[in-house]
Amino acid sequence: MTSLHIAVLTGFFLLSSSVSSQGLNSATAKRGRILYEKHCASCHQLDGNGVPRLIPPLTGTDFVSGDKSRLIRILLEGLNERIVVQEEEYYSPMASFKHLTDQQIADVLSYIRASFGPKASVVKAPEVGAQRKKFQ
Ligand code: HEC
Repeated sequence: MTSLHIAVLTGFFLLSSSVSSQGLNSATAKRGRILYEKHCASCHQLDGNGVPRLIPPLTGTDFVSGDKSRLIRILLEGLNERIVVQEEEYYSPMASFKHLTDQQIADVLSYIRASFGPKASVVKAPEVGAQRKKFQ
């Protein structure tokens, strides 16, 4: 087996083991991952590490694993402010994802909260709906 094979297998193992925990069932994890790959990975990258100085990482950030309503609002409204993530400053706009359904937003956020640790609780569609009502 070449070292590339080993690297690919290890990556697959890490990815599959990291999504199977914290109340995230496999159907939600699967839907969340597909949504992440489609809507987020082009910028934040598949591994959630972002692009140095351009796109902030999702891995290990308080935005991802902290306050759920703030995280939901980032998806509903986008984000366009100077932020500091892991001691690096970012200031370029992220567009809103309000065209996604409450369920889709819940799934993708549950996926990133489970995969880009520290592990945090799942997000439910009604929680997204409540924020949508409040701010739109
Ligand atoms: C076109 C590139 C792009 C796409 C696509 C994108 N983002 Fe972002 N995202 C950014 C940028 C740039 C910022 C920093 C915004 C700022 O400085 O105000 C950001 C910030 C964030 C933050 C807060 C900071 C952090 O790193 O924790 C979260 C959470 C986030 N994005 C989640 C997502 C999710 C989930 C998706 C997919 C549904 C997504 N983003 C899609 C570019 C993108």
